[in-house]
Amino acid sequence: MSPFHITRTLPEDAMAAALRADVRHGLTADPKTLPPKWFYDAHGSDLFERITELPEYYPTRAEREILADRAHEIAAALPARTLVELGSGSSEKTRYLLDALTDLHTYVPVDVSESALEQAGRSLAAERPGLDVHALIADFTAGLTLPDTPGPRLLAFLGGTIGNLLPDERARFLTGLRALLAPGDALLLGTDLVKDEAVLVRAYDDAAGVTAAFDKNVLSVVNRELGADFDPDAFDHVALWNADHEWIEMRLRSLTAQTVKVPALDLAVDFAAGEELRTEVSAKFRREGVTGELAAAGLDLTRWWTDGEGRFALSLSVAR
Ligand SMILES: C[S@@+](CC[C@H](N)C(=O)[O-])C[C@H]1O[C@@H](n2cnc3c(N)ncnc32)[C@H](O)[C@@H]1O
Repeated sequence: MSPFHITRTLPEDAMAAALRADVRHGLTADPKTLPPKWFYDAHGSDLFERITELPEYYPTRAEREILADRAHEIAAALPARTLVELGSGSSEKTRYLLDALTDLHTYVPVDVSESALEQAGRSLAAERPGLDVHALIADFTAGLTLPDTPGPRLLAFLGGTIGNLLPDERARFLTGLRALLAPGDALLLGTDLVKDEAVLVRAYDDAAGVTAAFDKNVLSVVNRELGADFDPDAFDHVALWNADHEWIEMRLRSLTAQTVKVPALDLAVDFAAGEELRTEVSAKFRREGVTGELAAAGLDLTRWWTDGEGRFALSLSVAR
């Protein structure tokens, strides 16, 4: 059994304050929005794992295929002693990197979901004697301080999660990541690629309704944490392709005119019948766009791999 530490970089009251601020801001905005990070309580994290197994949800399988084929090339390009993974979730695909990085000393999974970190971190520490697992409960958009661990470091951000940030948020986020990279470190970034609209929409609106349950879970989080009285059955899950921005949007559509109370914020929120609350964007990328966004943050793309069907890409980049 290897050492396993779990550190909370944001105190619980700061997380609670961030949720209050996001809900107040998002539910009083026009159109209404909520940031996707609040999907991921323990139930939301479990639902996301079920999504990754759905026949319609190709990104996990496509990224796993690339990692299975290319982990040794990645490890040869950057024989990391520390692997930091943002939004690590179950760390399931990460196992390909952990196997290939033969000099690895420390794995630092970073996530807002304490339950996901506990589960993944403890089983990795048990499975991999000699690997120091240092989990961080943190918001990767809120300025990250990494533990002092041996370099070189590989910073991985998988799953296409970067697409959940809006373009200005992505620019700030990538600039922040650039500042974390010392000479000799690298960023491994997973990006879902633009493809046929029907394939994309199906991936976010599966026949079994798991994505709908995941989408509505954010309402249950707001109910539990802020005493709100959302009725998840009074909303429909909607997934649509926004061709101008090249992103999928997930929304919750109010089935009737209704007022939702959020007592912790002393707020009453009116929804018109058919009004939609945007809960997630998931941007899809092209190689030129990824290269340009990385370059704007001071990062040079050095490698680009896709799965056999060209659905998903992994890129490696280094600080200029
Ligand atoms: C789309 S899932 C991807 C999980 C995993 N990397 C994969 O590829 O299957 C996004 C993950 O990022 C985490 N997450 C979302 N927003 C976050 C934030 N702002 N800070 C830290 N973790 C976040 C979620 O809890 C979840 O585990």
